[in-house]
Amino acid sequence: MSDWFKQAVVYQVYPKSFMDTNGDGIGDLRGVTQKLDYIKLLGADVIWLNPVYQNSGVDGGYDISDYRAIAPEFGTMEDFDELLAQAHARGIRIVMDLVVNHTSTAHAWFRESRSSLHNEKRDFYIWRPPFKGGVPNGMRSCFSGSAWEKDEVTGEYYLHMFAREQADLNWHNPQVRQAVYDMMRWWLDKGIDGFRMDVIDQIAKPPEILESDGGPGGDGASGPRIHEYLREMNREVLSHYDVMTVGEMGSAKVESALRYASLDGSELSMVFQFEHMDADAGPHHKWTTEPLYLPRLKRVFEKWQVGLHGRAWNSLYWCNHDQPRIVSRFGSDADERSRVLSAKMLGACLHMMQGTPYIYQGEELGMTNYPFRDISESQDVEAIGAYRELVEEKHEMTGEQMMACIRRKGRDNARTPMQWTAGKNAGFTTGTPWMNVNPNHETLHAQAQVSEPDSVFAFYQALIALRKSLSVVIEGDFTLLMPEDEQVFAYTRCDGHDTLLVQCNFSGKEARLDESARMGGRILLGNYDCEGPADRLRPWEARIWIR
Ligand code: GLC
Ligand code: CA
Repeated sequence: MSDWFKQAVVYQVYPKSFMDTNGDGIGDLRGVTQKLDYIKLLGADVIWLNPVYQNSGVDGGYDISDYRAIAPEFGTMEDFDELLAQAHARGIRIVMDLVVNHTSTAHAWFRESRSSLHNEKRDFYIWRPPFKGGVPNGMRSCFSGSAWEKDEVTGEYYLHMFAREQADLNWHNPQVRQAVYDMMRWWLDKGIDGFRMDVIDQIAKPPEILESDGGPGGDGASGPRIHEYLREMNREVLSHYDVMTVGEMGSAKVESALRYASLDGSELSMVFQFEHMDADAGPHHKWTTEPLYLPRLKRVFEKWQVGLHGRAWNSLYWCNHDQPRIVSRFGSDADERSRVLSAKMLGACLHMMQGTPYIYQGEELGMTNYPFRDISESQDVEAIGAYRELVEEKHEMTGEQMMACIRRKGRDNARTPMQWTAGKNAGFTTGTPWMNVNPNHETLHAQAQVSEPDSVFAFYQALIALRKSLSVVIEGDFTLLMPEDEQVFAYTRCDGHDTLLVQCNFSGKEARLDESARMGGRILLGNYDCEGPADRLRPWEARIWIR
């Protein structure tokens, strides 16, 4: 098995918000092609493209109505082919989003499936009769409300773990699996370089979700057949191509990831686990404004770094289209100096760990959350659904409290247009952007950073270059230092040849370093321009040492 994914650095593009080339206010494929040199300049060598397939416009492209067509707002299949060719010409690979837990209810399969109890596609989806005249069981959608929707045509319910326009496919039906594999081969034969697999741990529905018995449904864990299906997909499709794969798996634990992401290559290259993203969760899950308790975050990383070392492969991420901006979350955007320092510190902390790093568009500039005022400014089904449930139905929060949560955690924070210049609409579009541009684009934009040696962009370039030049970053083991400290995140990486020491201050105050977290040697990279005291870190300071 080829393992180029271990050396790779992935840049995630959310096309709708990246670059608009025709003035309709929506980013498009030609916009991605136009900015390939920018991605190359950063040093990333793989692009993960969020869904660009034909869709019904409900969930940012994750409600696909035709897997083999490009959504008109993004361009044409010719535009896609051109992007792929231009990327490959620059040595950049393209990984596509694979969304096969569900399709849009506008997909031809679903339209057939719903048409009658006996249609040959009926069993492509999960249909159940009512239980005592109501929903089959208590399963809840990840986007609030019941996961069951009644369809008037046959009087039965279909399962949707996300929006009601996203009907879950029935992976227990071998015809569904073969139809998906055919579609995957079709894209791979075009020459794409892999897949990011959307909520792939949810495809193998556990038996309790499938009963129309009035029971609770399930707890979000994967069904027992998940490994069987992933192995089959690997055997039938993936193993025939030179690709990387990453499975989005909210339920993955170290134990299951040892199988999902085993270095034996039998399932996937790696998974996106969520445990570090839950480190600042509260009783309403992500909807909280509680600050991070650093020891909790460190424990999660330690568990994954040590647990997978030598046996499976980690992904490394702070941001994506479902997460708020990391600098506003675990760093500080309170003033310009803190923003720049903490964005660099967070980059250093993540990029020196073992695994494949993912950089979400704008993260390399230290882009921040957006100052949402009220719910009418949200476009995201998740936030709108949660607001309805927690504020309007259950009265568990006031509208103001929920808006504070959305400002801190909402997915729309990541989806504001990419900030290219100080000009109108940050250079993203000449028209009216589909989503407001962050007002801070006048000072925070790519043009100002690409040629500025002290910029967040330049620091990310340096981090990528370090990873490419030092094998200890790829192969070394991981040891967490000062585990209980509430300000310092420090660790070593060692491969028997080189030792790296990474010291990060996750606070805006000076922090003391224990003896255990100091080392002789030389500093490879830091975010202050003069060397500070060896036994302390300045606010948001990061230093990477080698010996
Ligand atoms: C994944 C996607 C997210 C989407 C959901 C349903 O979590 O990343 O954006 O809403 O799946 O497809
Ligand atoms: Ca456009």
